Amino acid sequence: MNNSDLKNLIKKQKPNYTLDQAFYVDNDIFELDIKNIFSKQWVFVGHSSRIPNFGDYFLFNIGNESIIIIRDEKNTIHAHYNVCRHRGSHICLENEGNKKLLTCPYHAWSYNLDGSIKSARLMNEGFNKEDWNLHKCNLKIFEGLIFINLSENPNNFDEFISPTRKFIEFHGLAEAKIAHRELYPTEGNWKLTLDNFHECYHCQPSHPEYCSVHDKDYILAYGAGSNTGPSSKKFNKMLENWNLEVKKMGHVTGEYTETEFNDYSRSAERTPLKEGKYNETKSGKPISKLMGKFKNYDRGYTSVGTSPFNSLLMCNDFATLFTFIPVSTLHTQVELMWLVHKDAKEGKDYDLEEIKWMWDVTTIADKRIIEDNQKGVLSKKYVPGPLSKMEKGLEKFKTWYLKHLDIAIS
Ligand code: FES
Ligand SMILES: [Fe+2]
Repeated sequence: MNNSDLKNLIKKQKPNYTLDQAFYVDNDIFELDIKNIFSKQWVFVGHSSRIPNFGDYFLFNIGNESIIIIRDEKNTIHAHYNVCRHRGSHICLENEGNKKLLTCPYHAWSYNLDGSIKSARLMNEGFNKEDWNLHKCNLKIFEGLIFINLSENPNNFDEFISPTRKFIEFHGLAEAKIAHRELYPTEGNWKLTLDNFHECYHCQPSHPEYCSVHDKDYILAYGAGSNTGPSSKKFNKMLENWNLEVKKMGHVTGEYTETEFNDYSRSAERTPLKEGKYNETKSGKPISKLMGKFKNYDRGYTSVGTSPFNSLLMCNDFATLFTFIPVSTLHTQVELMWLVHKDAKEGKDYDLEEIKWMWDVTTIADKRIIEDNQKGVLSKKYVPGPLSKMEKGLEKFKTWYLKHLDIAIS
């Protein structure tokens, strides 16, 4: 598809309808998505507690890129492109491990963990080794979250994080550790995967567990974030009362949504859980050590989106973090990370099964829904369908996406 065909297709997309098939199945559009959408965002790909020791590393792979995230002897975390400067081989071949030196398996050029070259055997005269350090990838550690950005000219990180900063900081993620990580490889385009995440129209039929911890009016009005469903007087009243109570405790309240089109797609809000619930567990009872600045439970729930590719859903005593990685046109990797206070001990302070229960079972259900959706979208009979009152979040994401793509190819 050439640019002018794509521009026409973008123009043809109707408000309050799903996208045309091509956006969910076309390989050229997928390539453009990676180049123009994913690669311009700051995306967190892990938490610093995943690599606690000197030499610990993991790879983050997307499209043709592989990034080595590694901790050096001075405790600094680095991100390097996994591309040897000699003839380009991948250097790290395992997805995670520990290396005190990055030695290329091909001809054994070696690099220090900060990316500077250490040795290159038998090179010709005039070879200046300092010219051949590893390519750095943009990296920021914020509250223990490892953010990377694949752009050559990344947006300013502080500007990017500023509206969601106070919501994240309150939860003390820098003082947290990973209780569990789980991958949910999903056979669906990344936009179908995110469409599903941006609406709670499907929550009632598909997620009894989610519905057992969240109030039904919350689900209606806020299930996929504020203003993603029809407004509910009952929930607004609940929120108003809860805000008063929580402000007195000195805890963060409020919400953030983008008011005008920009490079980012960020959101944040704090809301009350269902009556009687303290967190997203089956019993709803306190389950682990309080995190961050919480001195007491406030029955609140913090939901933050830093970009379409990351969400943080945080209770007072644990947090569930999502990363959505568009691997290929019809495949998305969904990674969940559960964080608890760094001093909390499994079996003593928390039961892992209870902590992961809700989002594990819900993400398994979502994987199935998305895969079935993708199968139907591949049919010759698929045409864009009309959206409901509970799919405003999806419409918002779709509009943001189309505008970005349109600008990028102009
Ligand atoms: S490609 Fe890495 S040392 Fe030759
Ligand atoms: Fe879902």
